[in-house]
Amino acid sequence: MEPSRWYRDSVFYHIWPRSFFDGNGDGVGDLYGVYEKLDYIQALGCNGVWFSPLYPSPGRDCGYDVSNYRDIDPLFGGMAQFRRVLDAAHERGMRVIMDLVVNHTSDEHEWFQKSRRRIPPYTDYYIWRKSPFGRLPNNWDSQFEGKAWQWDELRREYYLHLFAVKQPDLNMDNPRVREEVKGILRFWLELGVDGFREDVITFISKKDGLPNDYFMPATRGLGHYNHGPRIHDYLREFREVLDDYDAFTVGEAPLLGARRALDYVDEKRGQLNAVIQSEVMNADCFLTDYVPTPFSARRLKRVFDSWQRTLDGKGWNVLYYENHDHPRVLSRYGSEKYHAASGKMLAASYLFQKGTPFIYQGQEIGMTNWRPKNAADYEDVQTRWHYRNQLSFLLPPSVRLKWCHRASRDSARTPMQWSGAPNAGFTTGVPWFHVNENYRRINVAAQENDPDSILNFYRAAVALRRRLPLVRDGSYTDHDPLSGSLYVYSRALGAERLLVVCSFVERPVRFRAPSGFDLARGALLLKNYDGALDGNGFVTKPYECRVYYFT
Ligand code: NOJ
Repeated sequence: MEPSRWYRDSVFYHIWPRSFFDGNGDGVGDLYGVYEKLDYIQALGCNGVWFSPLYPSPGRDCGYDVSNYRDIDPLFGGMAQFRRVLDAAHERGMRVIMDLVVNHTSDEHEWFQKSRRRIPPYTDYYIWRKSPFGRLPNNWDSQFEGKAWQWDELRREYYLHLFAVKQPDLNMDNPRVREEVKGILRFWLELGVDGFREDVITFISKKDGLPNDYFMPATRGLGHYNHGPRIHDYLREFREVLDDYDAFTVGEAPLLGARRALDYVDEKRGQLNAVIQSEVMNADCFLTDYVPTPFSARRLKRVFDSWQRTLDGKGWNVLYYENHDHPRVLSRYGSEKYHAASGKMLAASYLFQKGTPFIYQGQEIGMTNWRPKNAADYEDVQTRWHYRNQLSFLLPPSVRLKWCHRASRDSARTPMQWSGAPNAGFTTGVPWFHVNENYRRINVAAQENDPDSILNFYRAAVALRRRLPLVRDGSYTDHDPLSGSLYVYSRALGAERLLVVCSFVERPVRFRAPSGFDLARGALLLKNYDGALDGNGFVTKPYECRVYYFT
């Protein structure tokens, strides 16, 4: 079937279920809550939803440790409630994509339990190795919990886990495992879902022989499993199923540059429709959030430019700033002091690029980082590991805590702030996780009827994006790549043009329109300050943004 590429007209809302909205009062966000909030998502202008995992799971990694791929966790309302949400979303013209987590399962998955006992056909579903003299099979590190190997007393072998100990890696080289994956894809597509966000999909093919890695000091092994030898064969195999359903696939692809991304997203190769790249979140850190650097607008713009230009006409971009794996963008690339201004500016800086935007729950009201006073309040397996181990060298606990404030995934996993009511209106029960103290000031209810709120700016920006075909199809130009403070980009299609001016700084900067743009003749469609022109330009206010339209 010829793909329709419907996702090019989509704007996705990313739901991290346990913190979105609790509909049954047990303190955990669920699908009853999602059902109640579909109108809210629709009013934001989103016509797609990505669900982080909803499957049954022991929750060691908040659902990214799946124990049954063909069900919905009762914690979230079970399968019947999922079908209700799916139908209600479809009735509203919204598409739904699921998280596909098949690099690893939970160790409580039936496959793993049988594999440990060598029960066929599960014996080789995972990556098991013997190793003499108590040595580990190789020197790889896991991303979350120390070395990547765990001894299993029952089978008397080590198993590979690239993430937490309770997340054993599947052996994708086993054709039966790939058949299982295709079965899972079919199961959800038959049920009516519209596609998948594929978790760390570039990790699924490991280098033959699992050799030692002497190059990557912090995450040894990465070079031997990221973009492994058979990754493209496997993705092609999966694509055959997906194509029957016109499904959208977006693969999570850590440490991938735009040029190499074409190996995955070039439409002629047809493997993934788009990737979630990590470079866009590296403008204030080095490769990982745990190695902070000063924010650099120039670095951010280089990434935008590289992805916009390299993929143009060949593949498709995902546009995002936030998800459940990173601290809040307003606290990173924006300014909590200029909360409303910088929240809106950040929206304008990415929503008009070419690609499919994703908005993470709470981003649209400018939720900021949660900063606990006590390290024991962190739930996230990765944060706990970093706090206890990676950051421990001679650093006092207070410094380590501050470090986590800036880097932890929990900074962005607190309950959605719906109102100024107790628990931010997230639950009538006891919330499963801490609520950010600033919820009385930053919440949906307060922004709902304020025409100048971040929320209403997002609504206007998304509506504009969906109304103008040039945002979907037009060319992209960065007009001032060298500026360390302004991001000035335009989109053009035929006689229509859009010019977006964003200041990433507090101090005033003199902006002059690029040649060919007469601001007095443009329609100023979006702005975060009232501001007059000064010649064919203006002097920016803190984190100012303007969107001009020319025809
Ligand atoms: C990426 C997911 O987004 C993250 O939340 C998870 O912990 C890892 N993959 C492992 O599944």
